[in-house]
Amino acid sequence: MTTVVLEKIWKEYGNQIVLENIDITIESGSFVALVGPSGCGKTTLLKMLLGEERPTSGRILLDGVPLKAEPDWDRGVVFQRYSVFPHLTVLGNVLVGREFEQSRLLGRLFGAKRKTAIEDARALLKSVGLSDHENKYPAALSGGMQQRLALAQALMRKPKVLLLDEPFGALDPGIRAEVHALMNELWVEQGITVVMVTHDLSEAFRLGTRVIALERRRNRPEEKERYGATIAHDIAVWPPKKQKKLNGSAVASEVPALVATDVSAAVH
Ligand SMILES: Nc1ncnc2c1ncn2[C@@H]1O[C@H](COP(=O)(O)OP(=O)(O)OP(=O)(O)O)[C@@H](O)[C@H]1O
Ligand SMILES: [Mg+2]
Repeated sequence: MTTVVLEKIWKEYGNQIVLENIDITIESGSFVALVGPSGCGKTTLLKMLLGEERPTSGRILLDGVPLKAEPDWDRGVVFQRYSVFPHLTVLGNVLVGREFEQSRLLGRLFGAKRKTAIEDARALLKSVGLSDHENKYPAALSGGMQQRLALAQALMRKPKVLLLDEPFGALDPGIRAEVHALMNELWVEQGITVVMVTHDLSEAFRLGTRVIALERRRNRPEEKERYGATIAHDIAVWPPKKQKKLNGSAVASEVPALVATDVSAAVH
């Protein structure tokens, strides 16, 4: 169970202010969909959550503890472009996260640890529907399959928070619907906190428990660099979606009060 708190996050690149005063408390087990126009700082925000970028000011807390300065195993990530390794098989791609986590020096596991890792990897491949493909290389998989593999790879690290940057943007509509259903199942099954960037509002509302829209309020060319984007809308998705606890009882994800209803203007 992981709560993520962003406190007064401010981000500048050189003279450009990208994000201003972002305050968000993400309850454990919630699924936050982040939307907003291109260039408003969504990926930048995700990179700060990953620890790949530092806020210019403000801080990010994971269960009350300030985020470490570099990416670590607390956070799994899946980007729009498939992040799997082309030279590793499907099984190898899922194993690789665990191998580097547990054996940083060698990058390989041996004996009982390897056996457990293979069992876990196979269980994950089963839940993403890739059991029959474990010896294939990514080039032999469709886009949807590669993205399911990327999800399994990220989940293998048992991340506290799963970060997704337009993970389904490149998929055909039919495949995308399938991957949506899978994503929802995984979220329920694994009980993790998810932050997903998307351009697709229907995807945001279908998967999210909460939709946050970022917007640059002043957008005239001469103002663009001096004002960053901030939270324009913060919407609890209704009816609330539920995750199951490990003991099987359902828990409603904590979601904030409805702040606004129209986000369509905030998204291209
Ligand atoms: N490493 C960097 N150095 C300088 N400027 C950057 C850097 N990364 C991002 N920016 C700038 O920050 C702004 C926000 O970029 P970001 O990639 O976060 O936007 P985004 O909301 O994810 O856009 P998109 O929807 O197109 O993916 C852009 O103006 C971009 O040029
Ligand atoms: Mg982006």
